[in-house]
Amino acid sequence: MKLGVIGCGKMGRALVGGILRAGIVSPEHTLIFDTYSPAADDMARDLSVKQARSNEEVISGSDVVLLCVKPQGFIEMLGEIGDSEGKLLISIAAGVQIASIEAAIGNRHRVVRVMPNTPALVGKAASGYALGTHAGAEDSDLTESLLGAVGYVCAVTESDLDAVTAISGSGPAYIFMMIEALVAGGIEQGLEPEISGALAAHTVAGAAELLLQSNESPTQLRENVTSPNGTTFAALESFRSDNFEDIVKRAVAAAAARSKELGEA
Ligand SMILES: NC(=O)c1ccc[n+]([C@@H]2O[C@H](COP(=O)([O-])OP(=O)(O)OC[C@H]3O[C@@H](n4cnc5c(N)ncnc54)[C@H](OP(=O)(O)O)[C@@H]3O)[C@@H](O)[C@H]2O)c1
Repeated sequence: MKLGVIGCGKMGRALVGGILRAGIVSPEHTLIFDTYSPAADDMARDLSVKQARSNEEVISGSDVVLLCVKPQGFIEMLGEIGDSEGKLLISIAAGVQIASIEAAIGNRHRVVRVMPNTPALVGKAASGYALGTHAGAEDSDLTESLLGAVGYVCAVTESDLDAVTAISGSGPAYIFMMIEALVAGGIEQGLEPEISGALAAHTVAGAAELLLQSNESPTQLRENVTSPNGTTFAALESFRSDNFEDIVKRAVAAAAARSKELGEA
C-alpha cells in the first residue's frame, strides 16, 4: 500500500510515526506534502519518507491519503488535489462533514472521517471514525489498522462524531483540568508542586490502565477502594454533594452542542 499525507503538523506527524513504527507501510511508500515546507522537510528527514511537490502529486501517487490540515482552509485544500480517482481519503479535520468533502471532490474518491485526539502524539489516541457514502468494509479495516497504530479506534455513525468529539476529542483537556485541580489540592495540603504533579499524573495514568486491564467496571473499581467512612469515602461524598456527575455531563453536552454547531456552520 502507498500512503499519502497532506499536512505534516502535529497530528500528521504523529499518525505517520505510529503507522511506520507498526510496519503497516514502509517509509519509501509514504509520500508527504505540506505548504509550510520546513514541516515536510523535517518529517521527510526524521522519518525517511518521500516528499512530493504538491498535494496533487500526493493524491496521484498514493492509494490512501491522510488529510491532516486544519479545518480552516480544508475545503480549499481539496481544490488542489487534481483529477485522479478511486483513492481512500481519511480526513481528521474536526467538524468538516463527509457530505462537504464528497461534494468538494465530486465523489471521485472514498472518504472516511476520523476524530482522533492528541494522545496520538504518544501512541495512546482514542479515535472514532465514520465511513463516507462510497467507503466499504475494506476501507473500514484499513482505517482501523492505520488509526490502531496510534491507539484505540472504533466505528460510529457520523452523527455520533459530535459525542466522540465531546468525550475523547476534547476529553484530554478535561483530564488536564482535573489534574490541575488535584495538583493544587496537593499543594494546599503541603506537598511540593513537582511531587503533587507527579503523583496526580501517575494516579490518572494508573487508574486508566487498571480499568483497561481489568474486567471490572469503573463503578466496581471505585467501590473496591472506598472503605465505609474512610478517606476515599470522604472525598467522594464531597464530590457527590457538589454534583460532580452533573458538572461533567453538562460539560460533555456543551462540547457536543458546540461540535454540532461548528459542523453546521
Ligand atoms: N490537535 C488536536 O488536538 C486535534 C485533535 C483531533 C483532530 N485534529 C485535527 O487534526 C488536523 C491537523 O491538526 P494539527 O494540530 O496537526 O495542525 P497543524 O499542526 O497546524 O498542522 C497542519 C499542517 O498543514 C499545513 N497545511 C495547511 N494548509 C495546507 C494545504 N492546503 N496543503 C498542505 N498542507 C497544508 C499547515 O501549514 P501552515 O502552518 O503553513 O498552515 C501545517 O503545517 C486538524 O484538522 C484538526 O482539526 C486535531
